[in-house]
This record gives sequence, structure tokens and C-alpha cells, in this order.
Amino acid sequence: MADKEGLKISKDYGVEIPFQNQGGFYVKGSDNLDWGMKKHLANIFDPKSGNTVMFAFDHGYFMGSTAGLERLDIVIPKLIPQIDVLMGTRGALRSCVPPQCRKGVALRVTSGSSMLNEDLSHEVVAVDMEDAIRLNADCLAIQTFIGADGQLSSLDNLSRAINAGLRYSIPTLGVVAVGKDMERTDRFFKLATRIVAELGAHIIKTYYCDNFEEVVAACPVPIVVAGGKKLPEKEALTLAYRAMQGGARGLDMGRNIFQSEHAVEMAATIRKVVHDGYTDSEAYQYYQDLINS
Ligand code: 5RP
Repeated sequence: MADKEGLKISKDYGVEIPFQNQGGFYVKGSDNLDWGMKKHLANIFDPKSGNTVMFAFDHGYFMGSTAGLERLDIVIPKLIPQIDVLMGTRGALRSCVPPQCRKGVALRVTSGSSMLNEDLSHEVVAVDMEDAIRLNADCLAIQTFIGADGQLSSLDNLSRAINAGLRYSIPTLGVVAVGKDMERTDRFFKLATRIVAELGAHIIKTYYCDNFEEVVAACPVPIVVAGGKKLPEKEALTLAYRAMQGGARGLDMGRNIFQSEHAVEMAATIRKVVHDGYTDSEAYQYYQDLINS
């Protein structure tokens, strides 16, 4: 294994050079996967735009009832028309999501912490492959805690999910967690996204940061950006726009949608940024027109 002393700081990311192993399939890094994997990825990433709007409502797996998600049964159905993929727990899906919704499913399969814990980095894989198959999951969402005390166990969870998913042609979504002590810098995200991708994850979810285009260039699979804490809608739309401009292949927003006073309109506007190339100012105008109509 390379020792740390010999490692030089990487600097040439070739951000202007397109991914060189794209092949015939439109999802980055997936050209060599089998038909079933590609079908699941096509359920996630729109073949026209190559992008995705994920709605994250899996917060309850460690936060319990979250502001804006007090009633999953009310919130989720009204947002379904505006999103491509549902990111949630099996409990939320089975109890509150109409199975006829015909949307992609990013199934949250890890658990083990709660908001009562100081350290959230120790999780287990709680959903087995048979249940992921029953739920028609299009990807398995695994939290990874690079740099935290639970790093090893989280990467073991990731690897087990990838191994199991490969047996049944179900992709894995590696979620890069950022604990309160972790730095939200491009240095951290370049490290974390690349580790998760090299371990075999087919999609990475992380946060936007400075030099994000370098994070994207160094990651051989598509990156989807989480929204993070609730921002004013104008700022959230700027974040979305910058993430897409930086090479993200979609957004996986939760709080910036379900904690918005106009959640449906916000989701519809995010869609315009992700699939129709709206700038942040065009999107904010669109959002205002929607809420004032
Ligand atoms: C919670 C998650 C969420 O899926 C992710 O953080 C996206 O939600 P938000 O946009 O609210 O951050 O992983 O643990």
C-alpha cells in the first residue's frame, strides 16, 4: 500500500475534459455494467437530461419526526409529480407512498444511530437484499463516515451492500456524511467521494463545495448533491444551479423542499434547474411566479 509520505497533492483534474470512458451508456462510469443495473440507473437518471431530482425524506431513520416531515402521508404524495426518485426508508415507503407512484426508489438501508447519540457514525445495514428486491429499489443508500470513528464499519456496510447489489443488479448510492466536526472543503469531498467510488458505489451523494467541479472530475461515477440545512429559497436555488453547473447529475434535496413554505412549487422549480437548465435567477423568478399565481 502506498505510504502517506510518498503521496503528492493531486492538482490536475482536467475539468474541461469530458469523462473518457463514457461508452454507449449515458450514466458516468456505468458503461460496463449489465442490463439490469443500467435499467435501474435509467429509472434514476432521466435519459434526456442525464440528471435526476431525488426527494430525500429518510431523515426519520435517525432524527425521528423532523420539522416538515411530521406527516409523511400528507407531504410525500403531493410532491410525487415533481420528483424522479424517492429517497426514503422501507417503513416510510410501505406506510405512506402509493406503490402506483411509478417513481425511482433510492432505499435507505442503513440504521443504528439516533439524535440522542453524540457520534452518529456507527451504523449497520438493516435492510436485506430480499426486501430491497421486494421494494423494487433502484439503488441501495448507504451512509459513509470518512474520517469519523465509524469509518471502518461504514465502509464495511458500503462494501457489503455493493457485493449484495451486484448479485442482484441493484446499484449502490454511497452517501458522504459530513459530521459536525468534519470540514466541508473540496479537500475532504475529493477524498471521500473518490474512496466511496473506488469501493464500487455507482452513485455518490455529497454536498456542494468550492472547486466542486474538481470533485466531480476526480469522481468516476455521477455525483448527486444533497441540499443540507434549510436555506432561503433564493439561496437554495443558487446552490442547485452552482451544483449543476459544477457537473452534478442531480439534486437530492430534503429540507430545502419539505421545510419550504411552498414545497410543491420549490420542487417544481428545482426540476427546472436540473432538467431544463434554468439559471438561479430564472428559477427564482419561476418560483415567485408559481407562488403568486
Ligand atoms: C439524511 C440524509 C438525507 O438524505 C440528505 O442529507 C439529503 O437531505 P437534506 O437535503 O435535508 O440534507 O442523508 O441523513
